[in-house]
Amino acid sequence: MSRIRKTEHAGAKNGGGYWGTREEAKALSKKLRRATGKKIVQKELKTTVAKNRRLSTQATFTLPQLETERLILRPLRPTDAENIFEYAKNPNVSLFTLWEPHKNVTDSLKFITEYAQPLYKEQVPEPFGIILKSNPKKVIGTVGCFWVSKPSQTMELAYAIDEPFWGKGLVAEASDAILGYCFKNLKVNRIQSRCKAENKASSRVMEKVGMKYEGTLKSAIFHRNRFWDMHYYAILKADWAQKS
Ligand SMILES: CC(C)(COP(=O)(O)OP(=O)(O)OC[C@H]1O[C@@H](n2cnc3c(N)ncnc32)[C@H](O)[C@@H]1OP(=O)(O)O)[C@@H](O)C(=O)NCCC(=O)NCCS
Repeated sequence: MSRIRKTEHAGAKNGGGYWGTREEAKALSKKLRRATGKKIVQKELKTTVAKNRRLSTQATFTLPQLETERLILRPLRPTDAENIFEYAKNPNVSLFTLWEPHKNVTDSLKFITEYAQPLYKEQVPEPFGIILKSNPKKVIGTVGCFWVSKPSQTMELAYAIDEPFWGKGLVAEASDAILGYCFKNLKVNRIQSRCKAENKASSRVMEKVGMKYEGTLKSAIFHRNRFWDMHYYAILKADWAQKS
């Protein structure tokens, strides 16, 4: 049997470790495609989670866990997939996002193993799980900053949280901590954020963390069969230092 590097299966940029055999990977993805019943999906999920445990440890060892007054922010693990699915399937949550609602737990698992973990390996603090200290086993959202341009030292802030937790100041609290982590630990001079003009709550989060409105790019994105105006906000390292 040929061995397959986990990165070939997960689409990550950097290698290291083995995910399983090529045959096992193929068989699993075939079964997942076929699986319709919740029980089958959950069984496959458990298998995938076990196989990904080693990847998880390797991928997250250098990124810290952050704490705020009410929250823990930490890298996602494959075992968080069901929590992510709980809110990512909600069309209200993805109403103004550029990603589509997750159709099943496999979508959420792929978000962790194919999007998040490769970024963690490159020390990128995105997406971190948002967890209430009062309920430490459950991920209720994500927040993080990814690189727009390393040479220009510019990152972008992104976030989402489950609907029952809207309007409690949680994403502003989480974003504040991520901005602080980035300005203190990474070579970043500017952190920007953008949202569809209709997403008033998102604009407000940006204002609450000290970002300044820079302007609106008219019809900047074609998504879901229409053009959207995008609001841009940003904060510079010097302004962050003054604020703190
Ligand atoms: C946008 C989102 C992240 C905000 O998270 P949150 O934890 O509710 O944010 P906060 O509570 O820190 O702040 C929200 C602010 O927006 C305000 N707000 C909420 N809905 C609003 C609306 N329709 N119009 C104007 N302001 C609104 C709130 O009053 C609050 O401001 P305040 O504290 O001054 O009263 C959350 O609603 C969400 O996850 N939405 C779905 C995903 C998403 O859109 N992500 C952003 C993509 S750019």
